[in-house]
Amino acid sequence: MKVGVLGSGDVAKSLASGFTRHGHQVMLGSRDPEKLNDFVIKHKGSQSGSVAEAAKFGELLVLAVKGAVAAEVLAAAGTANLVGKPVIDTTNPLADAPPDNGVLKFFTNLDQSLMERLQAAMPEAHFVKAFNSVGNAAMVNPQFPGGKPTMFICGNNDNAKATVRGILDQFGWETADMGKAAAARAIEPLCMLWCIPGFVSNDWYHAFKLLRRE
Ligand SMILES: NC(=O)c1ccc[n+]([C@@H]2O[C@H](COP(=O)([O-])OP(=O)(O)OC[C@H]3O[C@@H](n4cnc5c(N)ncnc54)[C@H](OP(=O)(O)O)[C@@H]3O)[C@@H](O)[C@H]2O)c1
Repeated sequence: MKVGVLGSGDVAKSLASGFTRHGHQVMLGSRDPEKLNDFVIKHKGSQSGSVAEAAKFGELLVLAVKGAVAAEVLAAAGTANLVGKPVIDTTNPLADAPPDNGVLKFFTNLDQSLMERLQAAMPEAHFVKAFNSVGNAAMVNPQFPGGKPTMFICGNNDNAKATVRGILDQFGWETADMGKAAAARAIEPLCMLWCIPGFVSNDWYHAFKLLRRE
């Protein structure tokens, strides 16, 4: 697939690297595409451009920017470049305040998630929450003695979720579909839980697994 990754940080690079390793073509989008020159040289199948160029390039998009500016970045991407496309939303609504005993602060509350805000602001795109509750080091082909970890996803469009499920299969995850966009109210705070061992014990490599009856 052609994948447009909106972002230039650790998440954008980890996922872009994974997409190229799995045979996809990637364009990363940034306000300053040249800062990605080294990355592009090292990752065959990748290129960089403006946010709007990356959004136009992708049949599948990944939103991997600071949560507080996510709506702004989508506006810069341009509605026409987002219409009808699945958008993997990796963002978390992190507030500027420092963590309290290792517990991050969010600028949202439990009655409305960041993804619902983004979906309302850009109804033409099909947002799917994914990759927000695991560190970037374990996003692609995670290795754990307990087997495949679980990626919790949600979104309003079933076709978009099927596309994301296919990517998660390729990237070595088990998918747990939690339903519509409202479920992001539960999935986004998993990031807070995931980060606690990091802040408290400097343990940044772990992932969630949902155990089920067969
Ligand atoms: N780090 C992780 O392991 C991890 C794991 C799961 C989820 N997440 C979430 O994934 C998202 C990306 O995280 P990250 O750590 O890779 O990067 P980050 O530092 O949260 O964000 C960097 C990105 O945000 C953009 N950005 C920052 N300020 C901006 C502004 N004022 N206007 C426009 N764009 C701006 C940058 O764009 P430019 O390229 O234009 O500078 C860059 O692409 C975040 O929402 C984070 O909460 C992170």
